[in-house]
Amino acid sequence: MRFPFSLLGLFGAQAAFQPTQLDVGQQQTLAPAAVHRTSRLTFALKEGPDVFSPRTLVELRRPGAGVANEAGDLVLVPYTQFSLDEKTNNKSILIAPLEGNATKPLEIPLPGGGEAFWLDRRSIGHAVDSGKGVLDLYAYALSPELQLNLTTPAPVFVGAFPTKTAGKLKYSEPDGALVFVDYVYADGNLTAAKEQDERRARVPNAPMVFDALNERFWDSWLSPKSASLFSVGLARGPGGEWKLASTFENLLLGTRHTSDDFSFLGGNVLYTSLDPDLSPLNGTRNVHLVKITDPGKPVQLTSGKQGGAGAPLLNSDGTKAAWIQQPTDTSGHSINKIIVYDLINKNRVTLAPTWDRSPESLAFSLAGDVMYFTAEDHARVKVYALPIPSTSSASASTGYPLLPKQFHNPVPLTHQGAASGVQLLPGGRLLFSRSSFASPNDVYVLQDLSSFESNIVLGSSQALKPKINQVTRFNAEALESKGLDEGEEFWFKGALDRDVQGWLFKPKGWDEKDTKKWPLAMVIHGGPHGTTADQWSDRWNPNVFSQQGYFSIWMNPTGSTSFGEEFAESIIGDWGGKPFVDMVQGFKYVLESYPQIDPDRVVAAGASWGGYAINWLQGHPEYGFSFKALVCHDGVFDSSASSYTTDVPRFFNHEFGGAPWEEKNVHSKFSPANFVHKWSTPQLVIHGSKDYRLPDTEGIAAFHALQQLGIPSRLLIFPEENHWVLGHENSLKWHYEVFKWFDEFVGDLADS
Ligand SMILES: *[C@@H]1O[C@H](CO)[C@@H](O)[C@H](O)[C@H]1NC(C)=O
Ligand SMILES: *[C@@H]1O[C@H](CO)[C@@H](O)[C@H](O)[C@H]1NC(C)=O
Ligand SMILES: *[C@@H]1O[C@H](CO)[C@@H](O)[C@H](O)[C@H]1NC(C)=O
Ligand SMILES: *[C@@H]1O[C@H](CO)[C@@H](O)[C@H](O)[C@H]1NC(C)=O
Ligand SMILES: *[C@@H]1O[C@H](CO)[C@@H](O)[C@H](O)[C@H]1NC(C)=O
Repeated sequence: MRFPFSLLGLFGAQAAFQPTQLDVGQQQTLAPAAVHRTSRLTFALKEGPDVFSPRTLVELRRPGAGVANEAGDLVLVPYTQFSLDEKTNNKSILIAPLEGNATKPLEIPLPGGGEAFWLDRRSIGHAVDSGKGVLDLYAYALSPELQLNLTTPAPVFVGAFPTKTAGKLKYSEPDGALVFVDYVYADGNLTAAKEQDERRARVPNAPMVFDALNERFWDSWLSPKSASLFSVGLARGPGGEWKLASTFENLLLGTRHTSDDFSFLGGNVLYTSLDPDLSPLNGTRNVHLVKITDPGKPVQLTSGKQGGAGAPLLNSDGTKAAWIQQPTDTSGHSINKIIVYDLINKNRVTLAPTWDRSPESLAFSLAGDVMYFTAEDHARVKVYALPIPSTSSASASTGYPLLPKQFHNPVPLTHQGAASGVQLLPGGRLLFSRSSFASPNDVYVLQDLSSFESNIVLGSSQALKPKINQVTRFNAEALESKGLDEGEEFWFKGALDRDVQGWLFKPKGWDEKDTKKWPLAMVIHGGPHGTTADQWSDRWNPNVFSQQGYFSIWMNPTGSTSFGEEFAESIIGDWGGKPFVDMVQGFKYVLESYPQIDPDRVVAAGASWGGYAINWLQGHPEYGFSFKALVCHDGVFDSSASSYTTDVPRFFNHEFGGAPWEEKNVHSKFSPANFVHKWSTPQLVIHGSKDYRLPDTEGIAAFHALQQLGIPSRLLIFPEENHWVLGHENSLKWHYEVFKWFDEFVGDLADS
């Protein structure tokens, strides 16, 4: 979780059109200066049974993270799969055994989509749009034996919610209650929300009036509704049938808190909320505990002086709470700390206070004495374990420096790929999901944690390596013949003589003994506080570049996360500085190391901060890259204008050393718009019109500059997309236009 970028509800509408109809005859009139390497009327992406094409990418199964039942013998994994021929994006769940003699996993299609979650050891709840403006809740009964029946159980109707927006459903069997997030008007009354929605809908396109920020965020205008947490009774009746109660209790009623980030266990709900007494721009989030039997009366566990907080968690016996927290209310790039709060003694302790990595999702060991979590490290996302010191005395926090080293140095349990969704299971096991450059998510189980745990608690240097079992293989078959590359990492000396990391992918068909030369694409990630990690991406996927015939490099220059706080922060006030020194060095290193790269056929692309970098590279030919074509997606053109129009002004003001009107800022030095007189490279500009992080006027401005200067350029607008391209058909169009653009300038003539 990156503050303030905890992004919500991100599934944008999909524009419906046939990419194939746009392929031909849509060649834009190019400015006279255009010198194209090829003048093909048509361009086609490489396709075939052995090719990992953009179409393969959008048609793969897209699994989320797995969630096990309480007994830890079955895992539920939601996934979607798009079909271009059918124009459907079907949602399903996969139920796979975690123990015993594995039978084939059970796939249950969820017509109508919706959310599925565990009710008990063998029951699954499914909340789905009824088509009448509310969600219906169904229960699926799995067979009691581990060997699952390979027939889909029939859903049984349980009850209805008052709205169709309930989400993040969490059921607690001992409490007989379901807690969830939903959206309500100022009265906080969930039962009244639907009627209020309908009344508002009778005035379409109604004008909006705002008195404070944010008037809009990410891809939506501010709604008069806000997120709150609700509980409702849900239990089995005398005949064993599930029954949903009809009273929906607003747990945050009268608190002015808004939350969609909570944990529910043993009658308690731990949640984070923005502080209602601070400026709406203030990123401070507080952590509160509320009992479901005592709605509207939460207890605040944080001081209100810290920054963002998230990932709230309760341990199994309800004695401890934990969350991640930013030490101060800064812009949102700094490292998260794990706070463990003793609910009995009311003491808190910050785990591994000097560790230079940023924990994200957390899980207590079953005994509550070890914290498991994920964190980025060197362009991977690893699972770590860390013993929790005693919180029973008041000196827990102040005594930290004196604790033995095992309390300061988290132990990595995984080393490759990107892990998420850690969950402890009975029998010394840990469930997690993991993707890599070569595969979307699959579910894994770490075995034999008990001896490992006692070793790390004791600080034994011989912490045993737990065994890892792979549980699911969602896309193994679809990817089997595609020859995906795992990527290779390279390190080089960058700005300030620091070690900088990058990934290199070779084109499919590359052969060491061959003298054939290949084009190179340099791809720059966004953020800038992000990282190109060994992780699957549905949007910028290195293997797509390889299989369209490109070498590609994906560097993690100054500003990137996962290499420590100093490296990430070192970009502040220096957006056009150190990262480009790094990229020049990394680029040189790669050209020297791979003689099969054709230095006369190099291109670059980037989105968000990466798009800033593209516009910046345009204005700085002295770097000597000699790119033949550029692609800028949702990038910054005028940094000063962007700091006014973005939905995260404080982020910009921090990164540029001050607001645009303040004396201390570096906009005149580092805004790409100030160097347009030096632009000359052909550029494709792409922007989503629902991008409120960097509004589409940034893309339009860059396109206008390029056109007026007579530089070959093209503008691709996605009217319904936000800062990302989420629509499957839009994604195909995106890939088609990007590779066509490159092909026009560096394409392989021999192939045409
Ligand atoms: C999607 O779901 C529909 C309706 O259940 C089904 O007819 C269709 O075959 C599914 N498509 C795919 C690609 O699985
Ligand atoms: C699994 O199979 C083995 C041999 O086929 C058998 O001995 C064992 O009892 C089975 N275990 C379970 C949990 O079914
Ligand atoms: C599972 O299958 C067996 C045999 O076909 C059947 O007797 C049993 O009722 C099924 N259980 C469930 C929960 O569907
Ligand atoms: C909530 O709204 C419903 C439907 O309008 C109404 O019947 C109920 O009395 C309201 N509850 C409260 C506490 O105002
Ligand atoms: C945010 O809150 C912190 C802590 O109360 C305070 O120091 C800071 O000035 C606040 N910032 C804004 C913009 O309100």
